[in-house]
Amino acid sequence: MAHENVITTTQAGIGIVTINRPTKLNALNRATILELSEAITALDDDAATRVIIVTGSGEKAFVAGADIAEFSEFNVEEGEQLASLGQQLLFDMVQNLATPVIAAINGFALGGGLELAMAAHFRVASDNAKMGLPEVSLGLIPGYGGTQRLPQLIGKGRAMEMIMTAAMITADEAKAYGLVNHVVPQPELIDFCKGIAAKIMKNSPIAITKAITAINASFTSSGFATEITGFGESFGTDDFKEGTTAFIEKRKALFTGR
Ligand code: COA
Repeated sequence: MAHENVITTTQAGIGIVTINRPTKLNALNRATILELSEAITALDDDAATRVIIVTGSGEKAFVAGADIAEFSEFNVEEGEQLASLGQQLLFDMVQNLATPVIAAINGFALGGGLELAMAAHFRVASDNAKMGLPEVSLGLIPGYGGTQRLPQLIGKGRAMEMIMTAAMITADEAKAYGLVNHVVPQPELIDFCKGIAAKIMKNSPIAITKAITAINASFTSSGFATEITGFGESFGTDDFKEGTTAFIEKRKALFTGR
């Protein structure tokens, strides 16, 4: 399957999916979300692929977020649809995939990028990685599951602080929080993940799938729908217009709270 922004390789039972929009720090536009969904589904359908590693191209970014330029003119309905379709097509799909998915965070994982990494079954970061959910700095809230998965992974208080401050944390901080399982030097990131994949592949695929389903079942909640509504409503505010316009014009936003 030929894709513009996603590269897939498979070797010895491991599928590597690389998000490849380096000039935009691998930001997730709608086309990339669709391509990722197709690429990951195809690997999951292939019985020979036993583990999937998702990473970003280059040394700077895993994914620097959803594509701000693409959605800056969206209205409330379009915003809500963006979150709901994205969650369905990619983020929920990854979380519930039968094949284990490891996020190899090779640099910035912000907004939708961190949300994608959090939808994966677990995460490994390179030592230069930085993570955050900066949506409130754009007059938005996370819309791809971030308000649900971040507190699940690091606890409510830390998630509240990270989301409210829009601050980035380092790879070591992310490890201390339990957001990533390991931090490794960047050149070793993919080989390290392949090493974990090799251990997984020694075990029963059917048992692993059942374990994924069972672990995920302990986190079932209706919060995702609340997130989609709040994300959509953000698109009707002056603060959203100001936040995204300021990013595109490369200036600081001046929020009025309206
Ligand atoms: N959406 C769209 N474009 C993005 C992007 C995003 N989320 N993140 C980065 N880009 C683009 C920049 O606009 C820039 O494009 P240009 O060269 O055409 O102007 C290019 O990627 C490089 O980014 P730049 O900001 O110049 O790199 P930097 O090293 O100065 O800063 C970041 C890196 C990650 C701190 C900064 O890009 C950033 O804050 N990105 C947005 C993060 C965010 O808010 N994500 C959540 C979105 S919901």
